[in-house]
Amino acid sequence: MKAVVYQGPMKVAVTEVPDAKIEQPLDAVIRITTTNICGSDLHMYEGRTSVENGKVLGHENMGVVEEVGPGVDRIKVGDRVSVPFNISCGCCENCNSGWTSFCLRTNPTEGMVGAAYGYANMGPYDGGQAEFLRVPYADFNLLQLPAGSQFENDFAMLSDIFPTGYHGTELAEVGPGDTVAVFGAGPVGLMAAHSAFLRGASQVFVVDKEKDRLNLAKSVDATPIDFAQGDPVEQIMQATKGKGVDRGVEAVGYQAHDPSGEEHPELVLDNLVKVVRATGAIGVVGVYVPEDPGAASAPAKEGRLGWDYGTFFSKGLRMGTGQAPVKRYNRQLRDLIIAGRATPGFIVSHELPLSQAPQGYDKFDRRVDGCTKVLLHPDR
Ligand SMILES: NC(=O)c1ccc[n+]([C@@H]2O[C@H](COP(=O)([O-])OP(=O)(O)OC[C@H]3O[C@@H](n4cnc5c(N)ncnc54)[C@H](O)[C@@H]3O)[C@@H](O)[C@H]2O)c1
Ligand SMILES: [Zn+2]
Ligand SMILES: [Zn+2]
Repeated sequence: MKAVVYQGPMKVAVTEVPDAKIEQPLDAVIRITTTNICGSDLHMYEGRTSVENGKVLGHENMGVVEEVGPGVDRIKVGDRVSVPFNISCGCCENCNSGWTSFCLRTNPTEGMVGAAYGYANMGPYDGGQAEFLRVPYADFNLLQLPAGSQFENDFAMLSDIFPTGYHGTELAEVGPGDTVAVFGAGPVGLMAAHSAFLRGASQVFVVDKEKDRLNLAKSVDATPIDFAQGDPVEQIMQATKGKGVDRGVEAVGYQAHDPSGEEHPELVLDNLVKVVRATGAIGVVGVYVPEDPGAASAPAKEGRLGWDYGTFFSKGLRMGTGQAPVKRYNRQLRDLIIAGRATPGFIVSHELPLSQAPQGYDKFDRRVDGCTKVLLHPDR
């Protein structure tokens, strides 16, 4: 089958790889209809992870079940499904309490909990930027979707970024009437803004410097804040008459940068500590890593960031972090899409055949040509 393979920094290629197949009784094989490129893939693409050459990429997958193992009895051949990016066993302590992103059994990598498709350090699993994908523990992991092709682009957001954005607002405890600051207007930040309104927020600020992304934020009623036009904290403080916001969401990650493009991994955390009012809460879904050999400073190479913990404590703030447990939210978010109340597909900017994945990675990485979210369709 054809698949998108990592070949070193700034290089992915579509090559022939061995067919995905049933390896364990609880597996399914999915024929991929839509698979997205994620901001998380860019950390690998830019050579900022330890991912090995030859890895098949892609953790945002959906499609139709092609084959099931002998132990699978809920999911049937022909079902249209969304595949959560977390690979979870369904029966360990963390899975049992709903934390499928921290499954204790599926990632054999030393010191890591939680597994994913096609990702550095997340276990030996191939990704779904391919014609077919092997899904372990299929009955537990797969989410069924209505048959056909309706809502394809909206449903494509259910495997990762819609639940991830929603998780950011859950960690930040966004509730009715709250004001919210979301840092990052990439796909995850835009999904967090959309989710904050679904949860009843009264005003949502979205901070970025990419004009097309800020316009998308505006299109869902958020208030865009351009950090290239001045300190985003001051801009939000002014707009809230010095009060700050009730809740903050971090949707940027460790490659946060200033307007000139220089990286400062602590920058967004510091801004959130300043802009969230005392006793408020912060949800961090942007990724931070324990080892970043490409970081500018020696401490940051070991994941040690000099962020303002002192003020964080003095203000009595709370912070939640980590990979999102997609299964905790994807069923409800699917039903909001079907009911017409959620429209996460609004961020899709490019739809490409699998063969054009290298161009998709390049444009998304350079944030050119209005490139906000790239969907690959291996079957078209
Ligand atoms: N926790 C999870 O489960 C999970 C899941 C998916 C993605 N992620 C992570 O979420 C983050 C965002 O993902 P994405 O797909 O939206 O990525 P993206 O790279 O497309 O978006 C990041 C955005 O942040 C902006 N940005 C950079 N510096 C900034 C600053 N100082 N202030 C405000 N904005 C700034 C960039 O301009 C960009 O638009 C990544 O770190 C990704 O790895 C986490
Ligand atoms: Zn993703
Ligand atoms: Zn588990």
